Amino acid sequence: MGAEPHLPVLLKTIITALQPISGGRYIDGTVGAGGHAAGLLEASGPDGEVLGLDLDGEAVGLASARLARFGARAHVVEGSYTGMRAEAGRLGWDVVDGILLDLGVSSMQLDGAGRGFSFLQDGPLDMRFATRTGRTAADVVNFSDESELAEIIFRYGEDRLGRRIARAIVNNRPFESTRGLADVILRAVGRRERIHPATRTFQALRIAVNGELESVEAVLPVAMGLLKAGGRLAVISFHSLEDRLVKEYFRRESVDCICPGRQPVCTCSHRASLLEVYGHKPVEADEAEKELNSRSRSAKLRVAEKLV
Ligand SMILES: C[S@@+](CC[C@H](N)C(=O)[O-])C[C@H]1O[C@@H](n2cnc3c(N)ncnc32)[C@H](O)[C@@H]1O
Repeated sequence: MGAEPHLPVLLKTIITALQPISGGRYIDGTVGAGGHAAGLLEASGPDGEVLGLDLDGEAVGLASARLARFGARAHVVEGSYTGMRAEAGRLGWDVVDGILLDLGVSSMQLDGAGRGFSFLQDGPLDMRFATRTGRTAADVVNFSDESELAEIIFRYGEDRLGRRIARAIVNNRPFESTRGLADVILRAVGRRERIHPATRTFQALRIAVNGELESVEAVLPVAMGLLKAGGRLAVISFHSLEDRLVKEYFRRESVDCICPGRQPVCTCSHRASLLEVYGHKPVEADEAEKELNSRSRSAKLRVAEKLV
């Protein structure tokens, strides 16, 4: 991993939002380097506990070391946040007081050339959070159909030049390294805007390799189901696709009726199960934090409180 430590984004707001108390039980579904988890443990002393999950074995090692000072109050486990109910059950927790998801990639992952998340340094085209299983970015790039690649780049990278990039990839593969791929994309589409033209393709590949949107969609009902009444779920997203899923889920679950607009009588029996704590608008970092931590610039936080 890279040398730069990961600075937890919106830490104070997360602590205010989750209102940790001594004796409370909290889940950090994306424990990373353990920054948010340490904040939760400090704020819930002397008896609060945190279960931290991460797909990345290296992150689990880092977080375990960082949280060792909290002794038996910290539980760090390698695994997906989608499995949080089973992991909580292993601790004998049926319900919890608060849950945090700080989505996406950490600074350590991004800065570590060996992980292949960034083209700023040359490295193997990997991009897996869980490095022991699943398809790598090289597998996706080298073995997908041109149309499948175009769809990935268009949908997950929101890049309207997806087809042209996919064609260039197919005509120049196989690829093994991040730089090799980034250079071909640059040659294929030229420099159109301030960001490097491979940025969106790299985001798209990372989302596809890790099934990120599917995981977010799957975890929201699981997390709400695990919360006790009055418990809170905080989700920090870093791009519009993730934030849209969270926004739509919170909106749907915060109203009583989800029948189509023109239907005169409700037939859905849907009941609101949550309240959006900061209204419909996401919370963003202030200027001082954005200045200090560039990752925080695109962070969007939404918080929901479980009603029943
Ligand atoms: C932005 S970082 C979290 C940083 C952390 N909040 C901290 O304070 O250091 C996101 C982390 O989520 C992990 N991750 C991504 N998808 C995951 C999933 N489905 N389950 C568990 N962890 C996941 C990544 O490996 C990464 O370490």
